[in-house]
Amino acid sequence: MKNILITGANRGLGLELTRQYLERGNTVFAAARQPEAATDLHQLQSQYADKLHLVQLDVTDEASIEAARQTVAGLTNQLDVLVNNAGIFPGAGPEDPAKQHLGGLTAGNALTFLKVNAVGPLLVAQAFLDLLKAANKARIVSLSSGQGSLTWKASAEPYHYSASKAALNMYMRALAAEVGTYGVISILVDPGWVQIGMGGSTAALPPAESAKGIIRLAEQLHAEENGSFVTWQGQPVPW
Ligand SMILES: NC(=O)c1ccc[n+]([C@@H]2O[C@H](COP(=O)([O-])OP(=O)(O)OC[C@H]3O[C@@H](n4cnc5c(N)ncnc54)[C@H](OP(=O)(O)O)[C@@H]3O)[C@@H](O)[C@H]2O)c1
Repeated sequence: MKNILITGANRGLGLELTRQYLERGNTVFAAARQPEAATDLHQLQSQYADKLHLVQLDVTDEASIEAARQTVAGLTNQLDVLVNNAGIFPGAGPEDPAKQHLGGLTAGNALTFLKVNAVGPLLVAQAFLDLLKAANKARIVSLSSGQGSLTWKASAEPYHYSASKAALNMYMRALAAEVGTYGVISILVDPGWVQIGMGGSTAALPPAESAKGIIRLAEQLHAEENGSFVTWQGQPVPW
């Protein structure tokens, strides 16, 4: 059984991934900004007391990343999978969609998106690299979006969300070139338009299906797929 770290595990796809990894008998380090307020994770913990560990982690806070690394390193000497799931989207949570249109764009909002959606996952991967290197063929799965594809980009908004996912793609593509030399496989996954969290209720895809696809993908990866950008069903996404 494997050790899995999932960021933003308290709700949305992160929570669904946590649930499914636990159902498969794995140990999950479920990271959340406010683990004490993560009621769904607490409920899961009553069912999976020895397999689910709640970890405080804000991906924009380097001290929090380092504290999370120390917490996890105190509980295990290897990590098999890191899922960089945490992210923000305008309209989901406090992010104002009006700031993603011409006339409403600000540098501050641009940097907020870049910090959470691009720089954060890179720093988390860097911090946990030693634990990932200690596992056999560890995986880093970073949740990107079709909005981060330059080829697919057809609408103007959401400017900063799309740019942050394109930046994430570049960071993780660069990281893949480096971690591949240690046998770690890193991929970017578009989870589809999921009926949860950012996707909203009008989305087409049930979260359980997307999460199942992402877990299957992570299990079946080969070294030659390191650095690829694929859908939750494993189809290539054009950069
Ligand atoms: N849902 C979709 O249709 C869809 C489509 C394409 C891509 N994606 C990608 O899939 C991932 C998950 O999406 P979702 O729909 O499940 O999102 P969601 O329901 O809005 O959940 C986002 C998660 O990220 C966490 N988070 C936000 N800022 C954070 C920070 N600074 N540090 C740590 N955690 C932070 C949130 O924690 P709090 O509860 O503390 O805010 C929450 O747990 C995202 O990366 C998203 O871009 C989703």
